[in-house]
Amino acid sequence: MVKICCIGAGYVGGPTMAVIALKCPAVEVVVVDISVARITAWNSEQLPIYEPGLDDVVKQCRGRNLFFSTDIEKHIARADIIFVSVNTPTKTRGLGAGKAADLTYWENAARMIADVAKGDKIVVEKSTVPVKTAEAIEKILIHNSRGVNFQILSNPEFLAEGTAIQDLFSPDRVLIGGRETPEGKKAVQALKQVYANWVPEDRIITTNLWSAELSKLAANAFLAQRISSVNAISALCEATGADVAEVAYAIGKDTRIGPRFLSASVGFGGSCFQKDILNLVYICECHGLPEVANYWKDVIKINDYQKSRFVNRVVSSMFNTVSEKKIAVLGFAFKKDTGDTRETPAIDVCKGLLGDKAKVCVYDPQVTEEQIQRDLALNKFDWDHPLHLQPMGATEVKPVAVTRDAYEATKGAHAVCILTEWDEFKKLDYVRIYEGMQKPAFIFDGRNVVDAQQLREIGFIVYSIGKPL
Ligand code: NAD
Ligand code: UGA
Repeated sequence: MVKICCIGAGYVGGPTMAVIALKCPAVEVVVVDISVARITAWNSEQLPIYEPGLDDVVKQCRGRNLFFSTDIEKHIARADIIFVSVNTPTKTRGLGAGKAADLTYWENAARMIADVAKGDKIVVEKSTVPVKTAEAIEKILIHNSRGVNFQILSNPEFLAEGTAIQDLFSPDRVLIGGRETPEGKKAVQALKQVYANWVPEDRIITTNLWSAELSKLAANAFLAQRISSVNAISALCEATGADVAEVAYAIGKDTRIGPRFLSASVGFGGSCFQKDILNLVYICECHGLPEVANYWKDVIKINDYQKSRFVNRVVSSMFNTVSEKKIAVLGFAFKKDTGDTRETPAIDVCKGLLGDKAKVCVYDPQVTEEQIQRDLALNKFDWDHPLHLQPMGATEVKPVAVTRDAYEATKGAHAVCILTEWDEFKKLDYVRIYEGMQKPAFIFDGRNVVDAQQLREIGFIVYSIGKPL
């Protein structure tokens, strides 16, 4: 029986390994983590992450050929293939702070592998890493091992949260990069065989190590660039009377452009787009390519502009002040169907409104109050450095109010800001909401999910992204 160990039981490690276990009954998969709380949750009825379809997959194989454990050393020692899926956050201090990837967690994992491995291992980079990381990992492993052979593969993950299970069941492609030596090719084949249990062969791409590492950064940069492009056009739409949805539809009909990933929004969030582009920018700067670095940096600048443009629109529409006005924020997750708030635009929007002294009241169907308060209290990039995180103290002042009900959040409010495209926000009783609000009642739809015309008929003043007023 092939034995797989995955270091890192997060948003990638958990779902990815659960699907491998489901699709490969002859493979034993153990997911390990330094976080006891996370492993306990993976072994409980309440999984640590909310992802449609995940509970079902985990229930089918947990205890059969899928296990979650904190005994990292034991399972590394037993495994043939070790995936490393630890966090690779943006550095917050030292060389490259604010841009470069912090590989501390990765390096610790590699040192642990070198320490405990007694037989040959295939080590797979699942985390998103800077191009050439495999070379550094190889050095750590080779210089610390005792006669064990390691093959390093790059197998970046392309799943998106909210659709992770679907993406893993039917990926557009699986990418495997390896050394072009006989041993490297053998390792690539071994990993290919795992995926071939359910992924058609023509969707499994093999490349050299550096192409695989760079393709992951490039894919995220291209995806984010599409959103910044449509968001930049949304600003021009608002200035001219064009409608960004009509423009996106018209340009997306060109098969060379395509229709997906052209929804204008309050800005992209999520743990990876910004982090990976900053990482790409840093690599370009280190290679003496400032023009290329600046090109990608602008994707982030437009995203920041879109978030601050939204806040400015709220404040300027409400007679240039939101001081002491209650503002309901509907949606805090960075996209629908996830409870993940990493780099969510809601953080910047709430901070902007709080900066103007608004009284913000948040409702999100999946995000806990503790998470929201913590996100608003943290410094930029600190969220992905577990060592910086302190539990919320009981005496700390809570920056916002949080409710478990959209109607309670909007009651007595001057404005509603929709910041996540949860389906339930389309079905709310807006007549009831209007009646409970201060007048004039404003709706700022940062995701273009509500029918602005219908809401105007109720009496709301509605602002949508990139649409005529
Ligand atoms: P995460 O923070 O949810 O999970 C990482 C886990 O690794 C944490 O539970 C942490 O405790 C654990 N960990 C850290 N150091 C460890 C060590 N030395 N030993 C054992 N466990 C350790 O992160 P994530 O969202 O799963 O992302 C992981 C990687 O995958 C990142 O590089 C990210 O860029 C990439 N990625 C993420 C997504 C996504 O949708 N979240 C998609 C594709 C790629
Ligand atoms: C993204 C990529 O889509 C995945 O392929 C990649 O594996 C992953 O990053 C990663 O490396 O972490 P994810 O961040 O989970 O996945 O979610 P997306 O669906 O890409 O959405 C990212 C952000 O862009 C969200 O805030 C979303 O609301 C926003 N978005 C997306 C838009 O504003 N407009 C769009 O048209 C699409």
